Parts: sequence; C-alpha cells; structure tokens
Amino acid sequence: MDQKQLTDLLTKMTLEEKIAQLLQLTSNLHEGTEDQGQITGPMEEMGLTTDMVRASGSVLGLSGAASIIALQQNYMKNSRLGIPLLFMADVVHGFKTIFPIPLAIGCSWDLELAEKSAEIAARESAVSGIHVTFAPMVDLVRDPRWGRVMETTGEDPYLNSLFARAFVRGYQGSALAEDNERLAACVKHFAAYGAAEGGRDYNTVDMSERQLREYYLPAYKAALDEGCEMVMASFNTVDGIPASGNEKLMRGILRDEWGFDGILISDWASIREMIAHGAAEDDREAAYRAMRAGVDIEMMTPCYVHHLPNLIKSGLIDESLIDEAVMRILQLKNKLGLFENPFRGADPERERELLFCDEHRQAAYDLAVKSSVLLKNNGVLPLQPDSNVALIGPFADQEDILGWWSCVGAKEDAVKLGTAMKERISGKLTITAGCNFDSMDAKQLELALDAAREADVIVLALGEESEMSGEGGSRTDITLPKAQLELVQHLKQLNKPIAAVIFNGRPLDLQGIFDEADAVLEAWFPGSEGGAAIADLLIGRMNPSGRLTMSFPQSVGQVPVYYNVFNTGRPMDPSKTGERYVSKYIDSPNEPLLPFGYGLSYTTFEFGELQLSRSEITADQHLTARIRVTNTGARTGVETVQLYIRDMTGEVVRPLRELKGFQQLKLQPGESKIAEFTISEDMLRYHHSDLSFTSDPGRFQLFVGPNSRDCLQASFKLV
Ligand code: IFM
Repeated sequence: MDQKQLTDLLTKMTLEEKIAQLLQLTSNLHEGTEDQGQITGPMEEMGLTTDMVRASGSVLGLSGAASIIALQQNYMKNSRLGIPLLFMADVVHGFKTIFPIPLAIGCSWDLELAEKSAEIAARESAVSGIHVTFAPMVDLVRDPRWGRVMETTGEDPYLNSLFARAFVRGYQGSALAEDNERLAACVKHFAAYGAAEGGRDYNTVDMSERQLREYYLPAYKAALDEGCEMVMASFNTVDGIPASGNEKLMRGILRDEWGFDGILISDWASIREMIAHGAAEDDREAAYRAMRAGVDIEMMTPCYVHHLPNLIKSGLIDESLIDEAVMRILQLKNKLGLFENPFRGADPERERELLFCDEHRQAAYDLAVKSSVLLKNNGVLPLQPDSNVALIGPFADQEDILGWWSCVGAKEDAVKLGTAMKERISGKLTITAGCNFDSMDAKQLELALDAAREADVIVLALGEESEMSGEGGSRTDITLPKAQLELVQHLKQLNKPIAAVIFNGRPLDLQGIFDEADAVLEAWFPGSEGGAAIADLLIGRMNPSGRLTMSFPQSVGQVPVYYNVFNTGRPMDPSKTGERYVSKYIDSPNEPLLPFGYGLSYTTFEFGELQLSRSEITADQHLTARIRVTNTGARTGVETVQLYIRDMTGEVVRPLRELKGFQQLKLQPGESKIAEFTISEDMLRYHHSDLSFTSDPGRFQLFVGPNSRDCLQASFKLV
C-alpha cells in the first residue's frame, strides 16, 4: 500500500476500531487459540468485549508457524477492513538456537558475531511467524544485584551503543520490507531502567538530566540511528514521572528532539501501573497520561480501550493523537508486507529446516567460546585431556544453561558440560553434583569427595540457577549459593588443583571461590552449545578471549562499582592506606575485584611503547595513537586493545577513564601487530551543565591497554 491507501484505510476505521489497534494481548485471550504463548507478566482481569479482542492490533508471546497462521486466519475472518495482526515476542538471545546471554555477548567485544546472532534469531523467529522482537535491550547497568543485567551488554555507554547498532542490523537487515526472514526490532526499556535503585527490579530511577543524557540515553539513540523500528517504554519513573506517562521523555526527547516516528509501546501493564506509582488516580487518568506522552500501544492492560473513547468525546484527548498512533501501526504492518501477505515469513516447512540447524548451532558455539572470560589461571588450565578429572558441581551435568529469556529454546537440546567433557577427556572422568543448587546432601558430598580423591584435577561447575537472574530476579546477596561454597571448602581440603567454571547471569561476589580456585572461567549462561564451548576452552582446544563488560565487585557492599568513576575531591592514594579522611572504605579496596575490560588468555601479550603522532590538536585536526602488541606466549590468541581517555579538567567533572575505542588483534605466537587509534575533537565532547554537547580545550590523558586498569598512558592537549 502507499501512504494514500493507508490514509484512506484510516478514514474508514471507526473510533473503536482505531483504539483497538492500540491494544496488545497475549494469544490466549483470542478465540479459538489453544496455544498460550509466553506469559511474561501478571495476568489481570481486563473486562474486554469480543469486539475489542477481535479488533485488537497485535499479539505478544505467540510463536510457531502453525499457531500463528491459524490465529491470523481466524482473526482475518472477523476483520471488517482486512487489517492483519502484528505478532511480537521476546527474541532476546536466540529463538530456538540459544546464544549466550547478552551480557556474555558483550564480553565477546565481537560486533560481527553479535550481529550474526541477531540475524539467526530473526530468521528462526520470522519463519515461525513473528514480526517484531522486543530487543535489543540496551539499558546501561552498574548494579549486579539487578537480575536484568543479564540482558544488556554492560556498563559502558560507548560499547553498549555499538552493540545496540549491531543487534538492530542483525534483526532488521538492510531491507526489512523485502526480507521476510528479518524482524522489526524494538529497543528497550526507554529510559534508564537499568538504574533501578538498589538493583531492585521496577524500582525508582532518579538522576540528573545531564547524567541521563551522558550515560543512559546514548545506546537507545544509537539503536534508533541504526533504523530501529520500535521503542518500548520502561517500568520506572524518570525524574519522578513513570516513563509510560512522561511527556518530556517521550514527546520531548524521543519524538521532537530525536525525530523518532515509529511505534512506542508500553511495557507489560506499565500504563495501568501509573496508578500504583501514584501518578494516576485510575485507568482513565493512566490512559490520558500515556496517550498524551505518545505511547501508541498498550500492552496487556485495557486503559486505552475502555477510556480513550470518552476522553476524546470530552475533548481531553484530541482524536488526531489516536490517528497518529494508529497510522504508525498501519505503517509498520504495511512495511512488513502484511496487507499483501498476513502470514509473512511463517512457514512450517522452512521452520523445520532452519530452527536449530547445524549452521545456527555453530554460530552459537562460536559466540559461547568468545563470550567466556578467563578470570584467573595459575597454570592449571588448559587441562591435559589425558588427565584424570573429577567434574563436580550442580552445573557438571546440567541443562539449565540457556539463561532467562530463552524463548522456545529447549533445555534438553543444550549441550551439557558433562556430556561434552566425556567426548574430550581420555583419562578417567567422574561427573557428580556434590550438592544441589542451594542445599547440601551428605551422600552427594561423599561421592564428590571420593571422585576428587582419585582425580589429578578437580573441575568445579558452579553458579546460579537461571531463575536467579532475569526479570524479577534481583538479589541482595550475590555470592554463590551457600551450599556450593561449602562444597568448595570440603574439596579444598584435598589439596588438589581446582579449576572453577561459573555459570551465572550477573557479575558475582566471588568470595569463597576466587581465592580458593587455581583457575576461574566465567561461562555466564552460554546457550545451546555452551557445554561444548566450555569444554573446548577447558582442554585448550580453544583459547579464552572474552573481556568483562561489567566490573566484578570485591563484595556486594561496593555496589554500584564501575570503571568510569570520578576522582572525588579526596581521592585515595593507594600507597597511604592508613589515611582516614579520603574517599575510601575502611574494610575494602575501592577498586573492583576485576575491572571492566579484564580477561586472561592461555597466551600472554606484551604492549610496547605508546606513541602519539602529536601532542596537541585543534578542533579540525586529529592525532594517532599507536602501540605494538606482541604475543609473547606459545599459543595463538586474541587481545582486545582498549583505548580510554580522561578529560583532566572540565566544566563538569569527567570520569577517570572513558572507553573511546578498541581493536581485537589475533596474534600467532611471537607475532606483533600495531593497534592504531585516531583521536579527534568529537570524541572529547560531553554534556555540559547547560546540556550542550561540546568539548573543553585543555589537557587529556590517553590510556591504551588490555583492560580499564592496566594501561599505558600519554597526554595531549585540545587547543
Ligand atoms: O519485553 C518484555 C519486557 O522486557 C518486560 N516485560 C514484559 C515484556 C513483554 O514480554
């Protein structure tokens, strides 16, 4: 259809039909559907009439070509004007083939693989009938108590923005309208949901607008600059006003300032939740505020369908606002080709062919290898494949390694670590749990101790159950569950080498395992091929190359702990630990246990001299920073060379370091390569107190290194 036809269609719609387009429901509320789809929020009584359901504009959570074709067929029979349904779902880190969780994908620092994972997820879900994914989730995070840190790529605005773009490219491709095997992406959760106070899900977010713009908004903006079709509002308040009713945020920044003219959808029930927030008296006021703010689709509450008709009749809402919202929905339906083919990519045969195919599993394996981070190694890793290994822990023979939001991925399809190790260890391999996730069992412990006594090396497979992170998965204690720490203590007494593999959805407080183990490999929730990838890393068939994108705290008491902090007026001098009146803890270092950007390899890298092409630049000049990196070990490896900059004096205080670039170098033993970075004035800009985004002339410190802590430095001036 062209725009004129869409406008004609809109004029033929009754007010009730238009408003129903703004309602999104789960499939079980539709007539004749057996398939419930995914329920990802509370179900409340909505008092909907059959007509409202029949005319509602979109469905969430349903997948499967046959189910979607059936629902669409049934729906179209009742659609007076032949307007098809849009099907949306949370395709977050894979559809059937499950990739590592997004936080792990972040740790790969591999934008190409990230894009490929999104493309595969798009293809699998598009042939299963889905049109829109509620991804990417790009919320910046600094608090690992929040369960949803697993869904983001981490704590850095620059890196998150690059990943946001990569995911959008992967989901949407370059020609969404022509490619039925791509999805429209919906970036979420706008805005700043990742800053929930205390890491408690759905909690208050309150920060200066300057802070919001500087750190939290860039990744959403990056997704939109990449052409992302939709935006989801967040559950939280932003400056005291729930995002779903926040006019300044939605109409002001998102639409007027950024020019976004796609669909803005609420989160599940977030319009009605304005009542609980204390920002609306009832459903009617909630509908009023959300529509005024510019939220087009209401997910899973009926405030719009019940109250917009009256709000319009009473003149409080102008019908033109409804028309705008409906037009955006019609436009997306049209762009996806649904008026010509309401089933779009849904194809049971293609579904059988594509889902969890070998090529997709290989990509999941590649990303699981690249996402794992070697946190410590005293030389116990890689394992000798002919050694006698006791593989112990609740994750030793565990299929719960997909992580939260794993769509239709089946745990039973996941390659377990134990299974993969059996195929790789030629020595004696004993696999035993040692304890349950969070309870001891005397019999299991005894079996584990027996196995360990007979082994050359103990491989511990520990971690959080997937339910312990994800939405609603906030924790105040982010150590390993007590039973697992007790297991470590028992095994430690045997004085055998211990390599620990940790499966989890957040940076943990690693007390009780980090010092006790000789090696620690962070596996995250590695997805469908996780066991194979981790086993190959353990035996050295693959070389770890992941680098942390969220700092690991010394203890939960340090949280929030992140790398791009300010110096404070009383910075601590590490050589004077006894000083009192400085910014420090009396019972903990200030620095995290493991900093942003950190990760080890089975080889070693040496950084040469850091050279700058000049010591001063003007706004229209640039300088080049060069550094030689050499693989000084015996194995081929990948080093992620990271560039950070500090603005020494700003109108507004600037962080000690800010990531401004990185390069991944693959080096053979003995090989050297030069990493080169170009620095120009636009990279030195920041939000000033008047919110202008400009740079300040003056001194800058430049850092290059393997992580945000251990860098070489040089300085230059902007004149
Ligand atoms: O997309 C999600 C969102 O991230 C959290 N609430 C439910 C939505 C739909 O499932």
